[in-house]
Amino acid sequence: MPSLFEPVRAGALQLSNRVVMAPLTRNRAPDAVPTPLMAEYYAQRASAGLLITEATAISHQGQGYADVPGLYGSEQLDGWKRVTDAVHARGGRIVTQLWHVGRVSHVDLQPGGQKPVAPSAITAQTKTYLVRADGSGEFVPTSEPRALEAAELPGIVQDYRRAARHAITSAGFDGVEVHGANGYLLDQFLKRSSNQRTDDYGGSIENRARLLLEVMRAVVEEIGGGVTGIRLSPVTPANDVNDPQPQALFEYVLRQLAPLGLAYVHIIEGATGGPRELPERPFDYAALKRAYREAGGKAAWMVNNGYDRALAEQALAQGADLVAFGRPFIANPDLVERLRTGAPLNPADKTTFYGGGARGYTDYPTLAASGQTQAA
Ligand code: FNR
Repeated sequence: MPSLFEPVRAGALQLSNRVVMAPLTRNRAPDAVPTPLMAEYYAQRASAGLLITEATAISHQGQGYADVPGLYGSEQLDGWKRVTDAVHARGGRIVTQLWHVGRVSHVDLQPGGQKPVAPSAITAQTKTYLVRADGSGEFVPTSEPRALEAAELPGIVQDYRRAARHAITSAGFDGVEVHGANGYLLDQFLKRSSNQRTDDYGGSIENRARLLLEVMRAVVEEIGGGVTGIRLSPVTPANDVNDPQPQALFEYVLRQLAPLGLAYVHIIEGATGGPRELPERPFDYAALKRAYREAGGKAAWMVNNGYDRALAEQALAQGADLVAFGRPFIANPDLVERLRTGAPLNPADKTTFYGGGARGYTDYPTLAASGQTQAA
């Protein structure tokens, strides 16, 4: 059985171990520009086999939360270059998560105060995060979106393509992960509850998957499949999405992705950050993987949601290649070392997840700093 702490190859990415840092939005990038503090935060976690950045907007229209970073302005790319340099200096590997939020946004965050865009004009029953004039954060309901015209979709595909190119050539990333999960734009197109279009991008599974597949083919054409990953969440209720036939939908998507030669496929099992099994939304992940492999897909298989060391080892024994950890990485910059030695984990402080400065961000102690190097 492969160990969590053995090297592995994911497409063109050679990784020093199988522990991945999951994408984690932290809302610490004022004006969407990554800061030196962010470089320190990611560098602290560089012992992960792979770091996936927090979701990063491909365009101003793709923004849905205050103080999240972007990849569409030169200052943003320069800020990310400082992050990737700091991670590479520590021997780490880092990809960025390409994000368009679709309807999970607010008019205050959109260009010209316009409505957010979506497959259909259906408001998500969910919240986004704004920063008040006094600097404090606030969760507010998302704004009513407008349905995208079919003629606008090539422009969005182009935004993904451009962001992918700049991520590699200007920002110094080792690759990108397309965010196809958690009820954001691409997932909104995939799922019936948010997509009621009657054109080529709505209705059948093939039509609902079209935008995601166009994006993936464009990104792969631009930077190569070997440095491209995708994140999917077949049954998560996050951000108010649902589909009556997730198994057929996602098996179709995975079969279509198989020929692209991706670096990895990243699957969130169950409700993101919640239960791994949803009785009302059953899903067979082994069958999903089988559909991909039978179609010739060779990407590394990455799993996420609620993993600890024992569950991660079980997943590897069952054929997963990589395990992504989210909340444990917030509170444990040296998570790999802690998992390897069986040391206790620092608990995460939820009150500092979103927004703020160094507290609850770069001040979590390593084992060495807390004098626990001899822990069990
Ligand atoms: C997240 N998650 C997340 N997912 C994603 O695809 N992009 C993102 O930017 C974020 N942001 C984010 C912020 C915070 C504070 C949390 C807690 C979660 C979901 C995350 O990647 C992961 O799927 C869940 O946390 C479940 O994994 P763990 O935490 O159980 O290992």
